[in-house]
Formats: sequence, C-alpha cells, structure tokens
Amino acid sequence: MDHDAQRLSFGARSGRYDAHRPDWPRTTAQWLVGADREGSRPGDVLDLGAGTGKLTGTLVGAGHRVVAGDPSPGMLSELAARWPGVGAVRAVAERLPFRDASFDAITFAQAWHWVEPVAAVAECARVLRPGGSLGIAWHVRDTDVDWVFELDRLVGDPVYSERRQERRSAAFRIGAPFGETEAATFRYEQTLTPAALAELASTWSYVALRDDHDDVLAAVDALGRRVAGAARELTLPYVTYCYRARV
Ligand SMILES: C[S@@+](CC[C@H](N)C(=O)[O-])C[C@H]1O[C@@H](n2cnc3c(N)ncnc32)[C@H](O)[C@@H]1O
Repeated sequence: MDHDAQRLSFGARSGRYDAHRPDWPRTTAQWLVGADREGSRPGDVLDLGAGTGKLTGTLVGAGHRVVAGDPSPGMLSELAARWPGVGAVRAVAERLPFRDASFDAITFAQAWHWVEPVAAVAECARVLRPGGSLGIAWHVRDTDVDWVFELDRLVGDPVYSERRQERRSAAFRIGAPFGETEAATFRYEQTLTPAALAELASTWSYVALRDDHDDVLAAVDALGRRVAGAARELTLPYVTYCYRARV
C-alpha cells in the first residue's frame, strides 16, 4: 500500500474519525507534556498530527495554550470547528512553520508512524525551548483479548502490524539531541455498538484503502454483533504506549 496515500487519507473521513476514534484521557495527555513533573505549570504546547483535535481538546482542558498542526485541510477544518480558540496550522513535522524555541512541549498522538523520524526529531528540537518535552503516544488494540485478536486478523495489514510492533518496543528511542526516552503505559477502553465498531474500522487507513473494504466492514460488523450479544454494546480495550524525552 502506498505510504503517502495512506498517511494523507484521513481528511476525507474527518467527521467519522472524530465521532469514533478513541479519546485521550487527561492523565495520558499530562504525562506526554511532562505536566506530572514537580513544579510544572501549563505551557505552550504544539500538538502535531493533531487530526480533528482529539488530544488537542484534552490539552486545552488541562489549561495549556495549544497550537495544532496537521497537513490535512479536512482534519484541520473539523478541528477548527470543534476548538475555535486553538490556532490550527497546516504543517508537516519534517518542516515546521514556527520560530526556534517557541514551545514548552510537542505531542504526537497516533501520528509519529507517519513522519520521517530523523527530520522530525531535528525540527521538534529546534522549535522547543531548552528543557522542552517531546511526547509520542499510540493507542494499540489489546490483542491479548481473544475477540480483539480476531478483529486484527480480519482487518490486518502485515506491514502495518509490523510497524505496530515497533510501538510496543521497550527499545523505542526518540534519540539525539533529546535526552533519555522515558516510557509509560496506560489502559483505555471504548464502549461501542457493533455499528460503531464498523464505523471505527472504516477510519483505519489500511482498511479504507483496501479494494474489499465493504466486505471487511461487513465482517467487522458481524464480529461486533457476536461479541455484543444481547447487550448490544461491546468494550474495545487498548494499551496506550507513551514515550517522552527532553531537549
Ligand atoms: C491517525 S491521525 C491522528 C490524529 C489525532 N492526533 C488523534 O489522536 O486522533 C494521524 C494524523 O497525522 C497526520 N500526518 C500525516 N503525516 C504527517 C506529517 N508528516 N506531519 C504531521 N502530521 C502528519 C495526518 O494528516 C492525520 O491527521
């Protein structure tokens, strides 16, 4: 599958994306910007690969002054409608349209796998103030749960799964000029109807760009119905893998 087509494919589904993708709880967001450190105060945060603003909103709620950056006009217009007070800037991580030393923290939620890491690390280091934090996070579906494993096999893209392995790796490093990479994991759950599970799956780029995506989504819907049973709702569990380092 073409990497560029995949990474730039989100804007066409921004409404569905915002309705169904998982949120970012405050504890996770605060860890990502280093706000759990003693004496820390709300700061200037750049949320990159911000999409429709799922993490942006949590950061605003925690009192930070947030600028959101993303290359997709579709995602940014959804973000601007939801968070009118936030600066929504068209930006790619590899070439940031900001001055040196502009931010206290930068976040990437579910977005770092789309960037070219060497250029992005250098640009983030440039626009961060000395001591500033870069935080990277992924919600990863918990395939230790049997039906979630089945779901992953239904929708699976081998290249994507391989990349996903990297995200859970204890060896994940942000690298120089950043200092030591710290890691943390959090649990997250989404309560969904079977139809919402299929809608969520339709926002995964590796499903949306498949020729047989209608068949895959029908199979996801059937799996969701089986798992939900009489309750008509199911719980989708995630492990949230988070990394951060200071420059
Ligand atoms: C899976 S979405 C994550 C959106 C949001 N952070 C969230 O958690 O819901 C990935 C986002 O990364 C953006 N993106 C793709 N390539 C990028 C790049 N080189 N630099 C910054 N963002 C990029 C996409 O446009 C998309 O909005």
